Amino acid sequence: MILALATTHSPLLVDSSHRRAIAPISTPDRLLLGPGPSNADPTVLKALSRTPIGHLDPLYVELMGEVQELLRYAWQTDNRLTLPMSGTGSAAMEATLANTVEPGDTVLVAVKGYFGNRLVDMAGRYRANVKVIEKPWGEAFTKEELEAALIEHKPTILAMVHAETSTGVCQPMEGIGDLCRKHDCLLLLDTVTSLGGVPLYLDDWKVDLAYSCSQKGLSCPPGLGPFTMGPPSRSQACSASRQSAQLVSRRVPA
Ligand SMILES: Cc1ncc(COP(=O)(O)O)c(C=O)c1O
Repeated sequence: MILALATTHSPLLVDSSHRRAIAPISTPDRLLLGPGPSNADPTVLKALSRTPIGHLDPLYVELMGEVQELLRYAWQTDNRLTLPMSGTGSAAMEATLANTVEPGDTVLVAVKGYFGNRLVDMAGRYRANVKVIEKPWGEAFTKEELEAALIEHKPTILAMVHAETSTGVCQPMEGIGDLCRKHDCLLLLDTVTSLGGVPLYLDDWKVDLAYSCSQKGLSCPPGLGPFTMGPPSRSQACSASRQSAQLVSRRVPA
């Protein structure tokens, strides 16, 4: 192959106008105190300096298994389908919606800040019939408000942000999953800013779908979007007939 390439004659010349002589990257050590990215743990930085291994290497499979277990621990879930997907939190958000929303489905989004609005936009782009309930920025929803909206809109999915980064408000989750089961809809939770930052109890809260990022509470660089999905009897009942083939369904063997 290399020989063939080497002997192939091309009439085209390589354009070097964008070529640069670059020095080795030397970034300063900064203390990051914003809502993300946060400083990566030294053990993470050390691991990143290792030589890449192949994705079919048995060690890769073993390491991925460890990562999946640790994500289950951080989320407090037994969900088998728990894995980090390539991409940021927004990619994980999109993959979650793409794999669960069918055009015309009613998705109720509980908005209490900027990232709730991003859920509204994304669900709309997947042609959901998006319904919105809003709280003033700085406040969380009560169970009564959420139940009233579930009764009014009868959604297939209730989507909400756990820790709304734009305001710092963390939504109390106790009892919301029970309401979703009572009203026969899935509970989708954005945990981008909460995972690793505050305790999460996805199974106790009866959360069906959740996603996060690597660069905040998990103290890793950006680039991974952890994702988790409840047992097939609930979550895949919603997604099995979906035609979407975004990140998760492409990556997870049937
Ligand atoms: C609550 C919330 N959801 C989603 C996102 C998007 O995540 P990312 O920036 O990793 O794409 C952010 C980013 O700050 C966030 O705070």
